[in-house]
Amino acid sequence: MRKAKKVSESCQELLSCGLIDRSEALRIALVATLLPTLEGSPRTLPAEALMDATGLDHDEAVSQVKLLGTYGIEVEHIGGGYRLVDTFDDLLLPEAVVPRLLELAYSARARPGTLAETCTEDKVMIPSLGLPYLYAASCGSTNRWLKGEAKGMPNGAIAVTDDQTEGRGRLGRIWSSEPGKDLTFSLLLRSSALTYEAGLLSLTAGLAVAEVLERLPGLRGRVRVKWPNDVLIDDKKVCGILLESSSQGEGLEWIVVGIGLNVNSDPASRPQASEPSQREASCGKPVPTSLRVESGASVGRRLLLVELLTRLSDRWFDSTIADSFGELRLRDGLLGRRVEIYAGPPDGVLTIAGEAVGIDDRGRLLVKERGGMTKAISTGEATLGVDIPTT
Ligand code: BTN
Repeated sequence: MRKAKKVSESCQELLSCGLIDRSEALRIALVATLLPTLEGSPRTLPAEALMDATGLDHDEAVSQVKLLGTYGIEVEHIGGGYRLVDTFDDLLLPEAVVPRLLELAYSARARPGTLAETCTEDKVMIPSLGLPYLYAASCGSTNRWLKGEAKGMPNGAIAVTDDQTEGRGRLGRIWSSEPGKDLTFSLLLRSSALTYEAGLLSLTAGLAVAEVLERLPGLRGRVRVKWPNDVLIDDKKVCGILLESSSQGEGLEWIVVGIGLNVNSDPASRPQASEPSQREASCGKPVPTSLRVESGASVGRRLLLVELLTRLSDRWFDSTIADSFGELRLRDGLLGRRVEIYAGPPDGVLTIAGEAVGIDDRGRLLVKERGGMTKAISTGEATLGVDIPTT
């Protein structure tokens, strides 16, 4: 109860900061207040609790509760109280995701060295990533959308869609995903908020995604990061990351990090331009896959998104780069493999070929050439070659 109360207070704060509109704030506060009923403790809440959380009178609170149903968040009126009917696990609407983000922000309060440290009983805390939460049922590209909004947005803003119709990938490729099945979102980062070089963001983003995915049933030990910014399951691509930035004078103004994760779709069954061409596949570009295909079970996108935001926030704002790189090296999908690095797609200009022997502290791929010389590569597209025997 206490936690829900604080979350609803933080909705008021978000409202007063202009990060959310009033009706959305009311619905988020209602869902946050009702969340404990999903676990049956308490089983139901009286209308007074909903009125208290929102500042609405009885009839207004009840009509907002009814409205939630039209968003796919069913609330049952039973025995004089109200309770959430199901866990709306696949909903990406702000009403479904933001209450959980705020709840986590409170439970993280005790963690030292985080924004949470500044949260006292009287001070409302806003999570580092995920607010403002911009959602559209459909949009061209979340990267393009967020870039267009970047000027007035604070660090941590997110743009999420259920149906990305013109998704963009690296090197001018297309990124396609299935409406209502996958995750496509972009995050806005202001360089002043970062604790390390922006160039290391995509590797640490890949690490954070890998750390979340490997906790799913059946995926332990199978998830790897492929330099510079893909996440693979058994050498198949499940996630791609696209960074775009804007500079002001000498420094970076903002960076948009776009993440496309195949969740419940079946990439093999859809004709798509982001698939590798025959030529690219034979050159070692990983074929696409999804979490459902690899784990054999559907994954609820709501909590998956919350987990991703939490882990990304940990990696970007709370971890030391030494710790992140230690973890990254344990999941380096190219280590010990024969690689070819191309300046463009893997049928472009070959930069270097050899054995991938690691990632240095500046995020560069280390490639040992046939002659024994090791070079550090900053950018490019790596093919996935065979393992090189260690003896
Ligand atoms: C790649 O592997 O080439 C990167 C793919 C990045 C796709 C994501 S989906 C969300 C965001 N919006 C876009 O248009 N692209 C990124």
